[in-house]
Amino acid sequence: MTKKIVILISGNGSNMQAIVNANIKNATIAAIISNNENAPGILWAEQQGLNAISLNHKSFTSREAYDSALVKLIDQFEPDLVVLAGFMRILSQSFCQHYQDRLMNIHPSLLPAFPGLNTHQNAIDSGCKIAGCTVHFVTPELDNGPIIAQAAVSINSQDTSETLAKKVLDCEHIIYPMAIQDFVFNHLSIKGNKVINQRKHDNNHQEKILNF
Ligand code: GRF
Repeated sequence: MTKKIVILISGNGSNMQAIVNANIKNATIAAIISNNENAPGILWAEQQGLNAISLNHKSFTSREAYDSALVKLIDQFEPDLVVLAGFMRILSQSFCQHYQDRLMNIHPSLLPAFPGLNTHQNAIDSGCKIAGCTVHFVTPELDNGPIIAQAAVSINSQDTSETLAKKVLDCEHIIYPMAIQDFVFNHLSIKGNKVINQRKHDNNHQEKILNF
């Protein structure tokens, strides 16, 4: 059965574009929602003829008021999965609980290392030789939910936070659609803080990701 997906963005929406362009089997993109009506990503979504909606957080007096309006908007589409793709807002506990086990995020570090902002500079400053990205289910604690997928890239001595961000973003565009496909095919189950993936792993693909 087809699963409905709502994607939340705030900015460029390159992950959203990768997800849309992946044409994930048995999934429909029910809506793209942005908290910023000028986000390049929402303009792109409109041009594609997708259901592109802006809900500006600045029109609300509190986080709770915004999140509850956002829930109402999202739930009109009866989504099976809500995907955060560069949605630059901390979500309230009640929002996270409402979408428990059907809310995904991508974070540009190898969690649990470097939650929060400035991940690339922090990885470089810490002398890390490897960086990467993590797709995880969202829990109320920031960047801390069960990990679905990760991809790694090497950090070399010439890397700046910009060059590292570009390498990591290229990986994000691969693993996010894959993780969503796994969700849609019911390959994922959550046991405590771990995600079990029943998909047969494609070793060639994993090797390619590590060679970025
Ligand atoms: C990505 O680096 C993602 O990991 C983080 O926000 C950024 C969004 O980029 N959560 P884009 O809007 O998908 O291009």
